[in-house]
Amino acid sequence: MTGQCGLLITLEGPDGAGKSVQSGVLAERLVASGRRVLLTREPGGTPLGERIRDLLLDIDAGVRDPLGDAMLFNAARRQLVADVLRPALAEGVVVVCDRFADSTLAYQGYGAGAPIDALSALAELSTGGLRPDRTVLLDLPVEAGLARRHRGDAAQLTRFEVGAAHDAEFHSRVRHGFLALARADADRWRVVDASRDAAAVSADVWAAVTDLFAGPAGER
Ligand code: TYD
Repeated sequence: MTGQCGLLITLEGPDGAGKSVQSGVLAERLVASGRRVLLTREPGGTPLGERIRDLLLDIDAGVRDPLGDAMLFNAARRQLVADVLRPALAEGVVVVCDRFADSTLAYQGYGAGAPIDALSALAELSTGGLRPDRTVLLDLPVEAGLARRHRGDAAQLTRFEVGAAHDAEFHSRVRHGFLALARADADRWRVVDASRDAAAVSADVWAAVTDLFAGPAGER
């Protein structure tokens, strides 16, 4: 993209991959290199989105159907795209988004079994065809991700991470879903081994996006 068009960079990956930390490090690095940057996350990123996030992550809220979950994620996504992403991109801002539409395909689709076609149609509606310029997949073995999550405060585990339906097999399907998505669109995706220490991972995340800024006229 050129001129006033910004760039949309998304980070994806299983729970415990370190996306939130790495999104923050990437955003800081982009700011330090002189770019205008917006860091946001899904679900959330708008007042409506944060309320939907609370509902979705509430173990007691009663939503259990993956397609219903996907509709809620996409309702939040539609608001984020309209209110935050499109205006920022139109102003030339580099947007770093911690999770985006691919998370719904991986979790509700590959993980929980909702039909991929239906999920793709929902994503098209919520994004209006907005696609990331680059998606970095922070990949790590399921056991490593779960161990990292469970080392934290157990009360912070979301309903997508606990319970019989969301055991290691679920997370394995999510991981392989992400890897299948990455294989299917190698131009957009880069896969980073997130099982290493944070500094090594952030160096690879940086290397995975720098070509976006090297236009014909050099550094953008
Ligand atoms: P969050 O606290 O952001 O977890 P993490 O830091 O691991 O990303 O919780 C988001 C949870 O929601 C996470 O378990 C993944 C899940 N999720 C979906 O199932 N579908 C989606 O479309 C999105 C955006 C997230």
